[in-house]
Amino acid sequence: MPMDRRPEFFKGAQLKVGIIGCGYVGLPLALRFAEAGHKVTGFDTDPAKVSQLNAGRSYIEHIPQAKIQQYVISRHFSATTDFAKLKEIDAILICVPTPLDERREPDLSYVKQTAESILPNLQKGHLVVLESTTYPGTTEELVLPILESNGMRCPIAAGSASDNIPCDFFLAFSPEREDPGNKQYGLAQIPKVVGGVNPPSGRAAQALYAQVVSRVVPVSSTRAAEMAKLLENIFRCVNIALVNELKLLSLRMGIDIWEVIDAAATKPFGFMPFYPGPGLGGHCIPVDPFYLSWKAREYDFATRFIELAGEINTSMPYHVVEAVATALNKQKKSLNGSKLLVLGVAYKKDVDDLRESPTLKIMQLLQGRGAHVEYNDPYFAQLHRMRHYNYEGMKSVPLSPQTLGAYDGVIIATDHSVYDYNSIVDSSKLVVDTRNATRRVVRNRDRIVLC
Ligand SMILES: NC(=O)c1ccc[n+]([C@@H]2O[C@H](COP(=O)([O-])OP(=O)(O)OC[C@H]3O[C@@H](n4cnc5c(N)ncnc54)[C@H](O)[C@@H]3O)[C@@H](O)[C@H]2O)c1
Repeated sequence: MPMDRRPEFFKGAQLKVGIIGCGYVGLPLALRFAEAGHKVTGFDTDPAKVSQLNAGRSYIEHIPQAKIQQYVISRHFSATTDFAKLKEIDAILICVPTPLDERREPDLSYVKQTAESILPNLQKGHLVVLESTTYPGTTEELVLPILESNGMRCPIAAGSASDNIPCDFFLAFSPEREDPGNKQYGLAQIPKVVGGVNPPSGRAAQALYAQVVSRVVPVSSTRAAEMAKLLENIFRCVNIALVNELKLLSLRMGIDIWEVIDAAATKPFGFMPFYPGPGLGGHCIPVDPFYLSWKAREYDFATRFIELAGEINTSMPYHVVEAVATALNKQKKSLNGSKLLVLGVAYKKDVDDLRESPTLKIMQLLQGRGAHVEYNDPYFAQLHRMRHYNYEGMKSVPLSPQTLGAYDGVIIATDHSVYDYNSIVDSSKLVVDTRNATRRVVRNRDRIVLC
């Protein structure tokens, strides 16, 4: 291992790349580096995932098994729980979770634990990059002090005067922009923002990523890179809240908000469509903005847009439940005692991810009001106990005209592409559609309630 590695080393032909955290973000990244010809090791604390990967099996729906097998067989990819192997690696990329804790405050325990497991294995010339979404300052204030605690140095510096500042190791932040299930933009096509703790660290990380993505976007610091990711997600969160609020108003005014959005989206500049739904879901949009709100408090600053957007988006599952109750009421039925089928528990269409899914909340609220709730989701044959919900033993109900007709109401919570919406409407007594999934349905529209 070269002890005098310079940033240019990471332009090298074949590098040893270590990815810590082989989940939705880490695994595609690992496979992309393997595809580019590097030797990749996936590090994960979950032994079940590690053994599945080494056996060439995928545990994420949109990541093909064949791809993992290909790189395991060609010895470009393997996985381990043994963090001592980090010593042999050139570049270490951290892709561990950054959730909120019970008090909805940043839980950086995974990042901290990862930095602590790198520390005894840190070598001179190592490049370490944090990819997990987090508040500005995490790389410099949390990761750097841990990595420097054995005496090696990576000084915080900016500007051309520090272009060649001596570093024992390199440290950078580069946010992941993975959009699971997005067929148009894969990892290689998405530009990567990179900020170093100092200029050599920035150059090292840029050299590394330039080998696997179409464009690297350098920024002046890790804090700018951390903030860029939060801006992207807050932009989505606030705009989704805006259309959700306008949907509520439009419903009251008898205007079809989806028609309005499609019309507005014909403007060739200055407008970007966002669509309303039953609430926010996924690992990012409902969580990340609150990382910034939390940090802002340190600066005596209230992030009002984030709080307001959070309030509106959190109220959407309650709105759906009210819409179901009103629709049943019109048919002289009550929510209490009704038999309901919810379509789609995943947080968005065509993915096998139910983290923070609003459907989970909707089902809980419906049950709380006395409804008998069942679900169908082609991506989840059964549900289990989760941190906030207990759906232990619940199984996906197979769809058929007979089963659909047996429910008082069917709620489209997630608009998976495999659903045949014509047949769903034809067979159901009532369809409450939270996604405008039935927009092309012509027959029996009187059974559909958009909400
Ligand atoms: N999922 C997305 O679409 C997405 C997109 C952009 C950014 N992000 C961000 O990327 C980060 C990772 O998210 P994810 O969706 O991949 O999470 P994930 O839960 O799918 O994967 C995380 C992996 O890390 C492993 N892990 C946990 N603690 C570990 C430790 N101490 N050492 C090694 N491995 C450990 C887990 O076993 C798991 O396999 C988060 O910060 C998230 O906000 C996610």
